[in-house]
Amino acid sequence: MNPSAIIVLFCLHFGVTVQHVSGQTQSVTLPVVIWHGMGDSCCNPLSMGFIKSMIEKHIPGVYVRSLMIGNNIVEDTAKGFLGNVNSQIEDVCQKIAADPKLKSGYNAIGFSQGGQFLRAVAQRCPYPPMNNLVSIGGQHQGVYGFPRCPGGNYKICNYVRKLLNLGAYVSFVQDSLVQAEYWQDPLDEATYKAKSVFLADINQEKVFNATYKKNLMRLKNFVMVKFLNDTMVEPKETEWFGFYRPGQAEKVVPLQQTALYQKDLLGLKEMDKAGKLHFLSVIGDHLQISTDWFIKNLMKFL
Ligand SMILES: *[C@@H]1O[C@H](CO)[C@@H](O)[C@H](O)[C@H]1NC(C)=O
Ligand SMILES: *[C@@H]1O[C@H](CO)[C@@H](O)[C@H](O)[C@H]1NC(C)=O
Repeated sequence: MNPSAIIVLFCLHFGVTVQHVSGQTQSVTLPVVIWHGMGDSCCNPLSMGFIKSMIEKHIPGVYVRSLMIGNNIVEDTAKGFLGNVNSQIEDVCQKIAADPKLKSGYNAIGFSQGGQFLRAVAQRCPYPPMNNLVSIGGQHQGVYGFPRCPGGNYKICNYVRKLLNLGAYVSFVQDSLVQAEYWQDPLDEATYKAKSVFLADINQEKVFNATYKKNLMRLKNFVMVKFLNDTMVEPKETEWFGFYRPGQAEKVVPLQQTALYQKDLLGLKEMDKAGKLHFLSVIGDHLQISTDWFIKNLMKFL
């Protein structure tokens, strides 16, 4: 083993980032903020609790904060479905800003819908700064399919989509059902853009907000993990910012072929060219990630 290989291993193992602070070189381990997925909570020992202790084991001394939305675990779980996610994001921004251990910045990991919610935090709340964002199965272009819809069964999927569509953009539903707030109907993009209170806003489809672009581009790395055999999220390409081409719901186009990228409304094109975007894929269903895979592929971003 040559000396540089040893250094790489050391850095991976301890998650050390070197920052230049007022002329001095210091080793700094950034804290980690986690936002759980739908149906989960901050502190389940089998899910987020497990991830938290795994990170703590691999990065000695690291501070990991798994976000609780609301005031207790019951509320935290319920708020994964109910409410206006914009106010949840505002609440999270306040919690992060008020935590003295996060004041010099942090890395963030979002699970499933927590991925797009933490991206919104990066876009809306630049202080303290988010360093790297890891999105695990996040739906950055929203969804147009219900959980566990069998991917090949277009008839059933389309039927249920139609039912959901009857209500997804009604303002009462938009204000009270979290999943409706990132529902994107490719057959009716105009209504989606007009009525979506969350996704259309953070994806620059209502008005162009230069602050969103500037803030997102501050990220050092934006890591997106897609599950190749995902049966929960439709289309699964949304986990890499892909989505149905407007006007139909079968053909999916990748991020690079969307207006969002080509007009560079969020800075993703520039970040891509600078090597800041990382598209990772995993064989398996939604959030089926092994500890070994996590350590091998994601620990280096923490
Ligand atoms: C742009 O986003 C910032 C940060 O969330 C917000 O303060 C501002 O009001 C937004 N501007 C527009 C035009 O929506
Ligand atoms: C998962 O998806 C990959 C890529 O599409 C495919 O090659 C593989 O056979 C799938 N595995 C399972 C268990 O379905």
